[in-house]
Amino acid sequence: MEKEILFKDFLDLLEMTEVYLKGCFKPLEKPSDAGGKETEGEISRGISRREAELSHLEEEIRVCKLCELARTRTNAVPGEGVFDPLVMVIGEGPGAEEDATGRPFVGRAGRYLDKWLDAIDLSREKNCFIGNIVKCRPPGNRDPKPEESSACLPYLVKQIELLKPKAILTVGRISSQILTGSMQGIGKLRGRIYNYNGVPLVPTYHPSGVLRNPSLRPYVWEDLKLLKAILEEKITKKDLY
Ligand code: URA
Ligand code: SF4
Repeated sequence: MEKEILFKDFLDLLEMTEVYLKGCFKPLEKPSDAGGKETEGEISRGISRREAELSHLEEEIRVCKLCELARTRTNAVPGEGVFDPLVMVIGEGPGAEEDATGRPFVGRAGRYLDKWLDAIDLSREKNCFIGNIVKCRPPGNRDPKPEESSACLPYLVKQIELLKPKAILTVGRISSQILTGSMQGIGKLRGRIYNYNGVPLVPTYHPSGVLRNPSLRPYVWEDLKLLKAILEEKITKKDLY
Protein backbone atom coordinates (compact mmCIF):
# COMPACT_ATOMS: atom_id res chain seq x y z
CA MET A 1 0.00 0.00 0.00
CA GLU A 2 2.68 2.40 1.08
CA LYS A 3 4.68 1.52 -2.03
CA GLU A 4 1.69 2.37 -4.23
CA ILE A 5 1.31 5.78 -2.66
CA LEU A 6 5.00 6.46 -3.12
CA PHE A 7 4.83 5.43 -6.76
CA LYS A 8 1.85 7.74 -7.34
CA ASP A 9 3.71 10.59 -5.66
CA PHE A 10 6.63 9.88 -7.93
CA LEU A 11 4.40 10.05 -11.01
CA ASP A 12 2.89 13.33 -9.80
CA LEU A 13 6.36 14.70 -9.28
CA LEU A 14 7.38 13.62 -12.77
CA GLU A 15 4.37 15.31 -14.23
CA MET A 16 5.02 18.52 -12.30
CA THR A 17 8.60 18.47 -13.53
CA GLU A 18 7.39 18.00 -17.09
CA VAL A 19 5.04 20.99 -16.76
CA TYR A 20 7.80 23.05 -15.17
CA LEU A 21 10.35 22.20 -17.84
CA LYS A 22 7.88 22.92 -20.62
CA GLY A 23 7.27 26.32 -19.05
CA CYS A 24 11.02 27.00 -18.96
CA PHE A 25 11.69 26.02 -22.53
CA LYS A 26 8.63 27.60 -24.05
CA PRO A 27 9.84 30.45 -26.28
CA LEU A 28 8.87 33.69 -24.61
CA GLU A 29 7.97 35.25 -27.92
CA LYS A 30 6.70 33.20 -30.78
CA PRO A 31 7.77 34.62 -34.13
CA SER A 32 4.35 36.05 -34.88
CA ASP A 33 4.04 37.64 -31.43
CA ALA A 34 7.21 39.63 -31.75
CA GLY A 35 6.04 43.22 -31.59
CA GLY A 36 2.74 42.07 -33.09
CA LYS A 37 4.48 41.53 -36.44
CA GLU A 38 4.21 38.64 -38.85
CA THR A 39 7.28 36.70 -39.87
CA GLU A 40 8.54 37.35 -43.41
CA GLY A 41 7.18 34.00 -44.52
CA GLU A 42 3.78 34.87 -43.14
CA ILE A 43 3.79 38.26 -44.81
CA SER A 44 4.75 36.74 -48.15
CA ARG A 45 1.90 34.26 -47.83
CA GLY A 46 -0.47 37.12 -47.04
CA ILE A 47 -1.28 35.86 -43.53
CA SER A 48 -2.27 38.54 -41.04
CA ARG A 49 -0.92 38.66 -37.50
CA ARG A 50 -4.31 37.66 -36.12
CA GLU A 51 -4.55 34.66 -38.43
CA ALA A 52 -1.03 33.56 -37.54
CA GLU A 53 -1.79 33.87 -33.81
CA LEU A 54 -4.92 31.86 -34.29
CA SER A 55 -3.05 28.99 -35.90
CA HIS A 56 -0.40 29.06 -33.15
CA LEU A 57 -3.22 28.88 -30.62
CA GLU A 58 -4.67 25.90 -32.45
CA GLU A 59 -1.32 24.12 -32.29
CA GLU A 60 -1.13 24.82 -28.55
CA ILE A 61 -4.61 23.42 -28.00
CA ARG A 62 -3.81 20.23 -29.93
CA VAL A 63 -1.03 19.35 -27.46
CA CYS A 64 -2.49 20.96 -24.32
CA LYS A 65 -2.35 19.06 -21.03
CA LEU A 66 -3.68 21.77 -18.74
CA CYS A 67 -6.54 19.67 -17.40
CA GLU A 68 -7.49 16.07 -16.74
CA LEU A 69 -9.40 15.76 -20.03
CA ALA A 70 -6.07 15.51 -21.86
CA ARG A 71 -5.62 12.00 -20.45
CA THR A 72 -8.73 10.54 -22.05
CA ARG A 73 -9.06 12.47 -25.30
CA THR A 74 -8.08 11.09 -28.70
CA ASN A 75 -7.95 14.50 -30.42
CA ALA A 76 -8.36 17.98 -29.01
CA VAL A 77 -10.91 19.99 -31.01
CA PRO A 78 -9.81 23.64 -31.39
CA GLY A 79 -12.78 24.63 -33.57
CA GLU A 80 -13.21 25.41 -37.25
CA GLY A 81 -14.66 27.89 -39.68
CA VAL A 82 -13.81 31.14 -41.39
CA PHE A 83 -11.66 34.00 -40.19
CA ASP A 84 -13.54 37.26 -39.31
CA PRO A 85 -16.82 35.32 -39.05
CA LEU A 86 -20.27 36.85 -38.89
CA VAL A 87 -21.13 34.41 -36.10
CA MET A 88 -19.10 32.38 -33.65
CA VAL A 89 -21.11 29.39 -32.41
CA ILE A 90 -20.05 28.02 -29.02
CA GLY A 91 -21.04 24.61 -27.70
CA GLU A 92 -20.05 22.70 -24.62
CA GLY A 93 -17.39 20.16 -25.53
CA PRO A 94 -16.56 17.50 -28.10
CA GLY A 95 -18.54 14.26 -28.24
CA ALA A 96 -17.39 10.86 -29.54
CA GLU A 97 -17.30 11.77 -33.26
CA GLU A 98 -15.61 15.08 -32.57
CA ASP A 99 -12.99 13.35 -30.40
CA ALA A 100 -12.35 10.82 -33.16
CA THR A 101 -12.00 13.41 -35.94
CA GLY A 102 -10.67 16.51 -34.14
CA ARG A 103 -13.52 18.56 -35.68
CA PRO A 104 -16.37 20.31 -33.82
CA PHE A 105 -20.05 19.42 -34.19
CA VAL A 106 -19.71 16.64 -36.77
CA GLY A 107 -22.07 14.13 -35.10
CA ARG A 108 -25.86 14.06 -35.19
CA ALA A 109 -26.20 17.27 -33.14
CA GLY A 110 -23.70 18.95 -35.44
CA ARG A 111 -25.60 18.06 -38.59
CA TYR A 112 -28.73 19.47 -36.95
CA LEU A 113 -26.86 22.64 -35.96
CA ASP A 114 -25.72 23.03 -39.59
CA LYS A 115 -29.40 23.04 -40.61
CA TRP A 116 -30.24 25.77 -38.09
CA LEU A 117 -27.41 27.90 -39.45
CA ASP A 118 -28.35 27.24 -43.05
CA ALA A 119 -31.90 28.51 -42.32
CA ILE A 120 -30.44 31.98 -41.76
CA ASP A 121 -27.78 31.79 -44.48
CA LEU A 122 -24.91 30.83 -42.23
CA SER A 123 -22.41 28.00 -42.46
CA ARG A 124 -18.98 27.08 -41.15
CA GLU A 125 -17.66 27.06 -44.72
CA LYS A 126 -18.95 30.53 -45.56
CA ASN A 127 -19.31 32.83 -42.58
CA CYS A 128 -19.17 31.11 -39.17
CA PHE A 129 -16.64 29.72 -36.75
CA ILE A 130 -17.72 26.83 -34.52
CA GLY A 131 -16.03 26.04 -31.21
CA ASN A 132 -16.57 24.80 -27.68
CA ILE A 133 -15.97 25.72 -24.04
CA VAL A 134 -13.71 22.70 -23.47
CA LYS A 135 -11.61 21.49 -26.37
CA CYS A 136 -11.29 17.88 -25.18
CA ARG A 137 -14.05 15.34 -24.75
CA PRO A 138 -15.41 14.81 -21.23
CA PRO A 139 -15.57 11.00 -20.83
CA GLY A 140 -19.02 9.55 -21.45
CA ASN A 141 -20.22 13.03 -22.53
CA ARG A 142 -20.53 14.18 -18.93
CA ASP A 143 -20.68 17.94 -18.25
CA PRO A 144 -17.25 19.55 -18.12
CA LYS A 145 -16.16 20.11 -14.49
CA PRO A 146 -15.78 23.76 -13.43
CA GLU A 147 -12.01 23.35 -13.14
CA GLU A 148 -11.86 21.95 -16.70
CA SER A 149 -13.94 24.82 -18.09
CA SER A 150 -11.79 27.39 -16.30
CA ALA A 151 -8.56 25.74 -17.46
CA CYS A 152 -9.75 25.82 -21.07
CA LEU A 153 -11.58 29.17 -21.10
CA PRO A 154 -8.53 31.35 -21.87
CA TYR A 155 -8.27 29.61 -25.27
CA LEU A 156 -11.84 30.53 -26.15
CA VAL A 157 -11.44 34.09 -24.89
CA LYS A 158 -8.36 34.47 -27.09
CA GLN A 159 -10.14 32.90 -30.07
CA ILE A 160 -13.01 35.39 -29.75
CA GLU A 161 -10.52 38.25 -29.48
CA LEU A 162 -8.64 37.12 -32.60
CA LEU A 163 -11.63 36.08 -34.70
CA LYS A 164 -13.67 39.24 -33.99
CA PRO A 165 -17.11 37.76 -34.71
CA LYS A 166 -19.98 40.13 -35.35
CA ALA A 167 -22.20 38.05 -33.03
CA ILE A 168 -21.98 35.00 -30.78
CA LEU A 169 -24.48 32.14 -30.57
CA THR A 170 -24.09 29.99 -27.46
CA VAL A 171 -25.84 26.65 -27.68
CA GLY A 172 -26.82 24.95 -24.44
CA ARG A 173 -26.75 25.78 -20.76
CA ILE A 174 -23.02 25.44 -20.11
CA SER A 175 -21.64 27.86 -22.71
CA SER A 176 -24.57 30.25 -22.21
CA GLN A 177 -24.02 30.45 -18.46
CA ILE A 178 -20.27 30.82 -18.72
CA LEU A 179 -20.29 33.56 -21.35
CA THR A 180 -23.22 35.57 -19.95
CA GLY A 181 -21.98 35.16 -16.38
CA SER A 182 -25.51 34.22 -15.28
CA MET A 183 -26.36 31.01 -13.45
CA GLN A 184 -29.96 30.91 -14.67
CA GLY A 185 -31.18 27.87 -16.59
CA ILE A 186 -31.14 28.06 -20.38
CA GLY A 187 -34.96 28.39 -20.52
CA LYS A 188 -34.66 31.65 -18.56
CA LEU A 189 -31.46 32.86 -20.18
CA ARG A 190 -32.57 32.59 -23.79
CA GLY A 191 -34.82 35.06 -25.60
CA ARG A 192 -32.65 38.12 -25.12
CA ILE A 193 -29.37 39.49 -26.37
CA TYR A 194 -26.40 39.84 -24.04
CA ASN A 195 -23.25 41.89 -24.32
CA TYR A 196 -20.00 39.90 -24.36
CA ASN A 197 -17.25 42.54 -24.32
CA GLY A 198 -19.15 44.58 -26.89
CA VAL A 199 -20.15 41.55 -29.01
CA PRO A 200 -23.90 40.76 -29.07
CA LEU A 201 -24.50 37.26 -27.70
CA VAL A 202 -27.62 35.15 -28.27
CA PRO A 203 -28.09 32.06 -26.07
CA THR A 204 -30.25 29.18 -27.24
CA TYR A 205 -30.89 25.51 -26.57
CA HIS A 206 -28.32 22.85 -27.48
CA PRO A 207 -29.13 20.94 -30.69
CA SER A 208 -28.91 17.60 -28.79
CA GLY A 209 -31.52 18.89 -26.33
CA VAL A 210 -33.81 19.90 -29.19
CA LEU A 211 -33.34 16.52 -30.90
CA ARG A 212 -34.49 14.91 -27.63
CA ASN A 213 -37.31 17.40 -27.14
CA PRO A 214 -38.68 18.76 -30.46
CA SER A 215 -41.19 21.01 -28.65
CA LEU A 216 -38.23 23.38 -28.08
CA ARG A 217 -37.91 24.06 -31.81
CA PRO A 218 -40.04 27.26 -31.95
CA TYR A 219 -37.82 28.86 -29.27
CA VAL A 220 -34.70 28.10 -31.26
CA TRP A 221 -36.30 29.64 -34.32
CA GLU A 222 -37.04 32.82 -32.34
CA ASP A 223 -33.44 32.96 -31.17
CA LEU A 224 -32.15 32.46 -34.71
CA LYS A 225 -34.35 35.34 -35.83
CA LEU A 226 -32.80 37.51 -33.10
CA LEU A 227 -29.37 36.54 -34.41
CA LYS A 228 -30.41 37.41 -37.96
CA ALA A 229 -31.71 40.80 -36.81
CA ILE A 230 -28.33 41.55 -35.25
CA LEU A 231 -26.55 40.63 -38.49
CA GLU A 232 -28.93 42.83 -40.47
CA GLU A 233 -28.17 45.63 -38.01
CA LYS A 234 -31.78 45.95 -36.97
CA ILE A 235 -30.60 45.71 -33.38
CA THR A 236 -28.02 48.11 -32.03
CA LYS A 237 -25.66 47.89 -29.05
CA LYS A 238 -28.15 49.97 -27.05
CA ASP A 239 -30.65 47.10 -27.24
CA LEU A 240 -28.31 44.63 -25.55
CA TYR A 241 -29.32 43.22 -22.19
N1 URA B 1 -21.77 19.02 -28.67
C1 URA B 1 -21.04 20.11 -28.36
O1 URA B 1 -21.37 20.87 -27.46
N2 URA B 1 -19.95 20.34 -29.09
C2 URA B 1 -19.54 19.57 -30.10
O2 URA B 1 -18.52 19.87 -30.72
C3 URA B 1 -20.32 18.43 -30.40
C4 URA B 1 -21.42 18.17 -29.66
FE1 SF4 C 1 -6.23 21.73 -22.42
FE2 SF4 C 1 -8.75 22.47 -22.72
FE3 SF4 C 1 -8.04 20.02 -23.40
FE4 SF4 C 1 -8.13 20.70 -20.84
S1 SF4 C 1 -9.88 20.61 -22.24
S2 SF4 C 1 -6.48 19.59 -21.85
S3 SF4 C 1 -7.47 22.85 -20.91
S4 SF4 C 1 -7.35 21.93 -24.36
